[in-house]
Amino acid sequence: MARLNVLKNHLPWTRTPLIVSAPMSGAATSKLAVAVTRAGGLGQIGFMDDMAALSNELNTAKHELQDLMNTLPNPQQLPIGMGVIVFGSPIEAFMQLFAAYQPAVAWLSFGSTSELRAWTEGIRRSSPETKVWIQLGSLQAALDVALVCRPDVLVVQGGDAAAHGHQNGASVLSLIPEIADTLQENELHDIPLVAAGGIVDGRGCAAALALGASGVVMGTRFLAATETQIPQSYRDAIFKASDGGEVTARSRVFDEIWGPNFWPTTYDGRCLKNKAYEQYRDGVGIDKIRNGLFSAIHRQDTEPLDAQELGSLWAGTGVGLVKSMENAADIVREVQGQTRKYLDRAMLSL
Ligand SMILES: Cc1cc2nc3c(=O)[nH]c(=O)nc-3n(C[C@H](O)[C@H](O)[C@H](O)COP(=O)(O)O)c2cc1C
Repeated sequence: MARLNVLKNHLPWTRTPLIVSAPMSGAATSKLAVAVTRAGGLGQIGFMDDMAALSNELNTAKHELQDLMNTLPNPQQLPIGMGVIVFGSPIEAFMQLFAAYQPAVAWLSFGSTSELRAWTEGIRRSSPETKVWIQLGSLQAALDVALVCRPDVLVVQGGDAAAHGHQNGASVLSLIPEIADTLQENELHDIPLVAAGGIVDGRGCAAALALGASGVVMGTRFLAATETQIPQSYRDAIFKASDGGEVTARSRVFDEIWGPNFWPTTYDGRCLKNKAYEQYRDGVGIDKIRNGLFSAIHRQDTEPLDAQELGSLWAGTGVGLVKSMENAADIVREVQGQTRKYLDRAMLSL
């Protein structure tokens, strides 16, 4: 309970249970971030490597949220999160944006402990009120990061999650309790945990709270939001998919098809299975797979082709529960309402 209050203090406009839209690179722009924050969640802008474009997105969010900012204890703070993929990113350029826009949350992911430490310290110097959230996917990473970086929040990403994550990930069902116990043993239990991976509705959110999380992050569910910037063909593939463990897979091929894979070997990614994945699994060489993909992309001008065959459509195992387009605000409120209902129901059944 105390940790829930910590997050409410950090993010005073939010309502519980805390719903966070994932900083989905390429898909989560200011439009989604603003809609989620306005609905009482934490909206986030996904990672961008173009600083001018990112600054533009932050500026739009600031403009759209000015009235809300004026009601907050710190009216300079932009009530959204900003996602950074740490490895390979230019730290100084990002620090200028943190200082200029002072987002409520800096979401850091995918970096070594020493890189994450440098970013955490840099953010705390550039924008002291910004809270540092670090996403990771293993007990060891959680402990290292908690000891070395002392983040304000640890986002525990389970193996069901869409997109990049820890290659040898466990589900949040075991990962959160084990991380919580280990933090407790190391007197680090004041760091709140937020759950990510496979949570798409109030049942998942209720379960995450029962596991000890102080809030939940959803990516796959927000792919259905009208404000998310993805092609309709991607959304249609999400709505058509069912049986998430069968139709998605974790693999490094989803990055390798585009050229040399710069992702550290600790990480792979979960996507809707496609032809490239099947070929890779069957031992076809990567050059042949790339040639097939690039010629399909070339042909799409003249021949209707399945979106799933033309790209990496990131999706989590919860994809089968995502069935229709909705406004982001409706998603936030629906999941919050359902969570209360399912928690009440669980209490009654005891
Ligand atoms: C399209 C897409 C892009 C993503 N991009 C990022 C990213 O840039 N940085 C990051 O930390 N996580 C990213 N994620 C992962 C999310 O932060 C989160 O861990 C995940 O979506 C949670 O699992 P769920 O999809 O089952 O809800 C992305 C997810 C999706 C669906």
